[in-house]
Amino acid sequence: MDFDEIIDRRGTHSVKWDMMEKLYGVPADTGVAMWVADMDFRPPACVQDAVGKMAAHGIYGYYGDDTGYRAAINWWMQSRHGWQVEPEAIFTTHGLVNGTAMCIDAYTQPGDGVVLMTPVYHAFARVISAAGRQVVECPLAMEDGHYKMDFDRWDAMMTGAERMLILCSPHNPGGRVWTAEELRGVAEFCRRHDLILVSDEIHHDLVFPGHRHIPMPLAAPDVLDRLVMLTATTKTFNIAGAHVGNVIIPDGDLRKPFAARMAALGISPNSFGMNMAEAAYSPAGAEWVDALMTYLEGNRALFDAGVNAIPGLRSMPLQATYLAWVDFEGTGMAREEFTRRVEQGAGIAANHGTTFGLGGETFLRFNLATPRARVAEAVERLQGAFADLQ
Ligand SMILES: Cc1ncc(COP(=O)(O)O)c(C=O)c1O
Repeated sequence: MDFDEIIDRRGTHSVKWDMMEKLYGVPADTGVAMWVADMDFRPPACVQDAVGKMAAHGIYGYYGDDTGYRAAINWWMQSRHGWQVEPEAIFTTHGLVNGTAMCIDAYTQPGDGVVLMTPVYHAFARVISAAGRQVVECPLAMEDGHYKMDFDRWDAMMTGAERMLILCSPHNPGGRVWTAEELRGVAEFCRRHDLILVSDEIHHDLVFPGHRHIPMPLAAPDVLDRLVMLTATTKTFNIAGAHVGNVIIPDGDLRKPFAARMAALGISPNSFGMNMAEAAYSPAGAEWVDALMTYLEGNRALFDAGVNAIPGLRSMPLQATYLAWVDFEGTGMAREEFTRRVEQGAGIAANHGTTFGLGGETFLRFNLATPRARVAEAVERLQGAFADLQ
């Protein structure tokens, strides 16, 4: 578990490093990639061993018998999140963006509204629009520098054309870990407006000490008849390229439309993803995640201290995720100017806040899951790029 090791990812078909010049104009040989949400760390040895075993065997045929995979999910959810998952409730998709898109397909019709609490993970809006549905942006409110839900305002925005709400729990960006009360509020909102609730909990293991993630079925057991849960090993263990995710549907009737879409699209598992995920959900994987979170806590502290020392910049205190959400509003600069300083001045590729929807306009998102030396360098570069404000 050497999180300090600098591993050169350039030239490996890494979207984060090999696409940053094309997308952000930041050259990979001199720049720092701090955008898309994958980590610059190797996954735990148990995952590497699973891939090594497949390579040593050398036959890459179709995957079958997922009993061990389902048992591993149940073990993980039970031991890490106190949640018992029925094996037959689990569907395996090619990642959670794919899972979200299939939920939209299974539970809504073209033209229907899908509610998002913005700013939120940008791929939600992308798949909603691509499927010919309407993105309904319900802006999060801000209280004491954190996002909070605003049900009274959102109630007034509903028109009756909405069919689904996609919740991000913990929230990306901004890193809120929603409380039981907030989660129950979401469940009640969905019941009031007759919405299917898709709860994307992909960041549920990346929670900092002092906060506790509560799976939606535990916070609001009465929402099960309209609940679809999304979970995955990929964000936790840095295996996003394996494209494997779980769509968990506790209610038997609600499962049927989803099962029908799976069958219609001919979706079957990717054996690399299944074997990696099964190996990850183990005591060795759990130990690795605990060490990871301790390391990320150090990165967060270093980044926040350095960035908050720059007048006008404010990094939102993260309760979860490794995705720092920095507000540049206090600089008084236009978006083009602070973005130019970060990209061309500091040589850092960070996600543009506008892509996350309403409320993201003055923000950039920085990925801190990289060796600490690189975080320190990024802080120095940012201080240099905004030195005139000091
Ligand atoms: C909330 C959320 N859902 C889903 C994903 C991506 O899921 P996948 O790689 O399984 O498609 C991300 C990636 O950052 C995310 O933040």
